[in-house]
Amino acid sequence: MILHFSGDFDVFPAFAPHFAKKVRRVLILVICEKSSIIFLSPILLRKRMRNMIKVDLTGAAPFFDAAGPDYASAASAHRMLEEKSGPGAEFTGWIELPMRMKKGELKPILAAAAKIRSRSKALVVVGIGGSYLGARGAIELLRPLPGKDDPRIFFVGNGLSPDYLNGVIEQLGDDDFDVNVISKSGTTLEPAVSFRVFRAMLEKKYGSAAKRHIFATTDVSRGVLRSMANAEGWECFTVPGDVGGRYSVLSAVGLLPMAVAGIDVAAIVDHAIETFGALYRRSPDNPVWQYAAARQHLYGRGYGIELLASYEPSFRFMGEWWKQLYGESEGKNGIGIFPASLEYTADLHSMGQYVQDGPRKLYETVVSFEKSLTSFPVPFGMGDPDGLNYLAGRDLHDICRTARDAVKAAHISGGVPNIGVSVERRDEAGYAELVCFFELACAISGYMSGVNPFDQPGVEAYKKNMFKMLGKPGA
Ligand code: PA5
Repeated sequence: MILHFSGDFDVFPAFAPHFAKKVRRVLILVICEKSSIIFLSPILLRKRMRNMIKVDLTGAAPFFDAAGPDYASAASAHRMLEEKSGPGAEFTGWIELPMRMKKGELKPILAAAAKIRSRSKALVVVGIGGSYLGARGAIELLRPLPGKDDPRIFFVGNGLSPDYLNGVIEQLGDDDFDVNVISKSGTTLEPAVSFRVFRAMLEKKYGSAAKRHIFATTDVSRGVLRSMANAEGWECFTVPGDVGGRYSVLSAVGLLPMAVAGIDVAAIVDHAIETFGALYRRSPDNPVWQYAAARQHLYGRGYGIELLASYEPSFRFMGEWWKQLYGESEGKNGIGIFPASLEYTADLHSMGQYVQDGPRKLYETVVSFEKSLTSFPVPFGMGDPDGLNYLAGRDLHDICRTARDAVKAAHISGGVPNIGVSVERRDEAGYAELVCFFELACAISGYMSGVNPFDQPGVEAYKKNMFKMLGKPGA
C-alpha cells in the first residue's frame, strides 16, 4: 500500500512516530512542497528515530542567559533557507544533492570507481579547499587504512610544497594509477600545477591511453578544465553551479574519491536523503536548531572561539572540513566564530592547559561515536607492575567514554561551555548524518548572524596579490 501525504513539512514529525508504531508494511511517501520527495518505510522511520544525530546542550546551558538560545531566530533563518529567500540562495543546491545524485551521477561514479579499483593501485586526487577536504575527511574517517584490495588515495594540489609533491611521486613508485582532478573554476593555481605534473606522468607511463586514466570533476560548461577535458576526451563529473566548494562533498567532488577508497557511497546518499528529511523539521527539538542557536547565543555572550573536538583520531580531517565550512561561511563583515579543532585525548596533553585555564572565550563541541566498531579490553598484567590492573578487562571504548565525561565536567567547571554532538557509529550512516547536520546548521547559523553563508569574497584578495607578484599575464 502507498499512502500519499502532501503539504507543509511541519506535519511530518507530529504524525510520523505515531504512524510508525501502528503501521508495519506500508511505504510512507512524503512530498514536501519546497523540498525533495522522501520515501520512508515505518521500519526505517523507527530506526531513524532511534539512531539520528543528537545534540546535548546540558554542558552549555549553565552559560546561557535567562532568555537562552533564540529559537525564533533559528526558525526564521530556516524558513529563509527553505524558501530560498536569503542572500546566496542561488547556492543552496546542496540540500537537493543526495536526491540529485541518486537520480543522476551516482551510477557513473560507481562505474568509474569500479574501473579504477580494478586496474590501479592508487588514485591521485588533485584539488584544494572545498574540492578536497570533504573527500579526505570521509576517507580518513571511514577508511583510515586501505583494505587489501583498496587503492591508496593520494591528495595533491592542496599546497605549493615541492617536498610534499616529490614525496607523493616517490610513494607512488611504478604503481598503476589514475588521476581525479577536481576544480570548479579550473583556474586554481595549486591544483593546476600538480595536475600538469601528474598528467605528464600518466602520458609517459600510458602513452595515448593516458586520457583514459584522467577523470575531471568541474563545472558543467565553463572553465579551463572543462575546455581541456572536452578537447582531450577525459571522463567528466560535475561540480553543480548552485553548490559552493565547501558544500560539495555529497556531489562527485567527494563521492568519486570515496567510492574508489571502498566507501559505500550509495549508502551515504541514501542516509543523506533520510537525514536531510528528518533534520528539516521546524522545531526547537531539531538538533540543527539546537546547535545553531546555542553557538550564536554563546557568541553573543563573548565566546568567540569554537573548538571542535573528537576522541576518534580518524576524525582529524573531518575537523579540517568543518573548519572550512564554518570559517568561510561565517567569517565576514568583521564578525564570526573562529573555528578550531582538537584531537582528544592527544591534544589534552598539549592544549589541555589552555582550554582549562586560558582566556575564557572558547566553547567546545565534542563529536562522539556512541558505539565503537571493535573492542579492546585492557590486558591483565601479572603482579600489576604498572598498577593498571584496576582497568584490566575493561574495554578501551568504555574507558574513553569515562574520560570524555571527566574532561567535560572539568572544562565546564573551568568556564568552557560544552556542546555534545553524537551519532551511533563511525560508519556511512553516521558520516551522512554528520555532513547533513553540520551543513544545515552552518547555513542556519550564518543566516542567524546576518551574513551570506554561501559566498567567500575574502578568498580572492590573496589570489590577486599572488598572481600579480608571480607575473601572471593580465593579473
Ligand atoms: O569553498 C570554496 O569555494 C573554495 O575552498 C574552493 O573550493 C577552492 O578554492 C578550490 O576552488 P576550485 O574548485 O575552483 O579549484
